Amino acid sequence: MDWGMKNRMSRIFNPQDGRTVMLAVDHGYFLGPVSRLEDLRKTIEPLIPYADSLMITRGGLRNCIDAKYAIPIVLRASGGNSIMGKELSNEEITVSVEEALRLNVCAVALSIYIGAEYEHQTLISLTNLINEAEKFGVPVLAVTAVGKELEKRDARYLSLSCRIAAELGARIVKTYYCEDFEKVVKSCPVPIVIAGGPKLKDERDVLEIAYNAISCGAKGVDMGRNIWQSHWPIAVISAIRKIVHENAALDEALDLFSRLKDKS
Ligand code: R5P
Repeated sequence: MDWGMKNRMSRIFNPQDGRTVMLAVDHGYFLGPVSRLEDLRKTIEPLIPYADSLMITRGGLRNCIDAKYAIPIVLRASGGNSIMGKELSNEEITVSVEEALRLNVCAVALSIYIGAEYEHQTLISLTNLINEAEKFGVPVLAVTAVGKELEKRDARYLSLSCRIAAELGARIVKTYYCEDFEKVVKSCPVPIVIAGGPKLKDERDVLEIAYNAISCGAKGVDMGRNIWQSHWPIAVISAIRKIVHENAALDEALDLFSRLKDKS
């Protein structure tokens, strides 16, 4: 691995433990002003000290994040779809690597939709982005997206999606936690981080999937809604950090969450 690529990867994954707590706030690229992200700056700023990196769009970054922050950026580089459209998988590359470098990002991210109508288009976009990004030492993170079909999230489907992303050259894969998750991790040769998906019933469920994913070998989380749609976002992300970076047991993380929640 070249120095630039290594350096960018080590800004995302803490070199001490090889793990990361990424904060995903890129949802507006197809969901618009999703609940609690109406005012991006207001939601994100208090969470910046607790996140190892931010996954965000270029518009979100330019307009809502001050350049004074040293936080590493993972730039959403695909889109062209919307929740109102016919087919969410109809995404293409939306940001050039030149633009990503101008924004001084640590990685670029793109969604692939295995088994969906535009599977081929998204896989070719992934390879095109990788071919370009690799020239400049920029890692590509592939998101194994499922669109509206959340029921697709099982070990068989996610193993297939993650492995294809890694085989095509993604340096990081973001997927969902599922039963038998160790199978997904074992068959993917690059680091896996998990998304949270739509808001879960309560914070215990969020900490449980983070704990289970890490126990199965995930290298971290890249969560959004289950952090910033919580009434206690700082308590949730702090408890997730304890699991990811301190190998905390679920009970310890829950205890920290309760203490911080009571204080806020
Ligand atoms: C999709 O909207 C984005 O790629 C998100 O970054 C991803 O889904 C993670 O966010 P969440 O934890 O809210 O699912």
